[in-house]
Amino acid sequence: MAISPDLLHKVSTEEDPPELDLSWLQPREAQQVERVRAGRRGMTFDEVERGREVPDHVNAFTLRPRDARRREDAVRTGQYYSDKSDVWSENARLLYEEAVQRQWSSATDIPWEKVTPLPDDLERAMCQLCTFLTEVEFIAGDAPAQWLPKIPNDYYETKLFILSQIMDEARHLDVFRKRAFVNGGGLLSEGQSGPSLRIILDAKDFTEMSAIMHVFAEGFVQSLFRTGELVSFNEAEKAIYRLCAQDESRHLGFGVMHLKYILDTVPERREEIHHYLDQVEGPLSLDITQAGASGATPFFDEAIMILAGGGLKGVDKGAERLMEVRKKQVNEYMHRLEVAGLGERRDRMNPFFRSLLDPPRN
Ligand SMILES: [Fe+2]
Ligand SMILES: [Fe+2]
Repeated sequence: MAISPDLLHKVSTEEDPPELDLSWLQPREAQQVERVRAGRRGMTFDEVERGREVPDHVNAFTLRPRDARRREDAVRTGQYYSDKSDVWSENARLLYEEAVQRQWSSATDIPWEKVTPLPDDLERAMCQLCTFLTEVEFIAGDAPAQWLPKIPNDYYETKLFILSQIMDEARHLDVFRKRAFVNGGGLLSEGQSGPSLRIILDAKDFTEMSAIMHVFAEGFVQSLFRTGELVSFNEAEKAIYRLCAQDESRHLGFGVMHLKYILDTVPERREEIHHYLDQVEGPLSLDITQAGASGATPFFDEAIMILAGGGLKGVDKGAERLMEVRKKQVNEYMHRLEVAGLGERRDRMNPFFRSLLDPPRN
């Protein structure tokens, strides 16, 4: 239906032109921004942020992004950390960019056709391991997610990194669930690891969460993934561990560099950090070689023993392999602490862990 010329005239002449604010259009003398060119790795945040400082302290109560003009009437949206040291890691930008570039799909990047039938004991042990890992990956997503509303937008690099980690963990729990079902086994028993793993969800501070989750717990998972050949039987399982390990190295990298930043800039927090590590090392460090002693994760330990021993009959050999894995976990954990600047942990570590440490490298 055509619009009548009269009506059209009325509409176009009776409306007052809108009053525009346009204050945002004024040039900002204080901050002239230069054009940015893509670098060797593309238009990364390193290129975009070059030459601009990240403030050590912020007064953040609103959604204002770093470098945006403050408004008097902005509503408060939260109580955020105000010190850079509380959330910062020097590699957060790089790790975020890498995470975005290295996403993979459990649906198409795993050669699932290579999973062939296994004897019942091995298949069930694999399914129990996958059940445990699925549970653990839920924690690895839930725990950092709790801290997103505390990270001010001024330190967006950390927020983006944590968001990328949550996506990684989604993929991990998805791939282990798929492995549990793909050979007809399914998920087996929920773990008994409540006290040792809930401690991560109960953290009251970002640095506490990062030290016990990124550096300790994910470190232990990473050392296991790196020994994936002990607990895999085909190319599909090897690909799962390899791709998960690639992601985990970013999560660990963030945690180690956050810890280093805290120790460098707020050295008075050193003892506090030892306290968090005391709390988390304890439950996991029961000596699994002693009769009657089982670690905090007995079903996990048993599954590894059966897988690494090649079946129930090889469980003695599997127990030796489990100790090798635990030794690797503890030594790699110690190495990460040394990189972070917490080398004195060597003498303060839980006694069972300390007994597994190799001599210092220098
Ligand atoms: Fe993970
Ligand atoms: Fe992780």
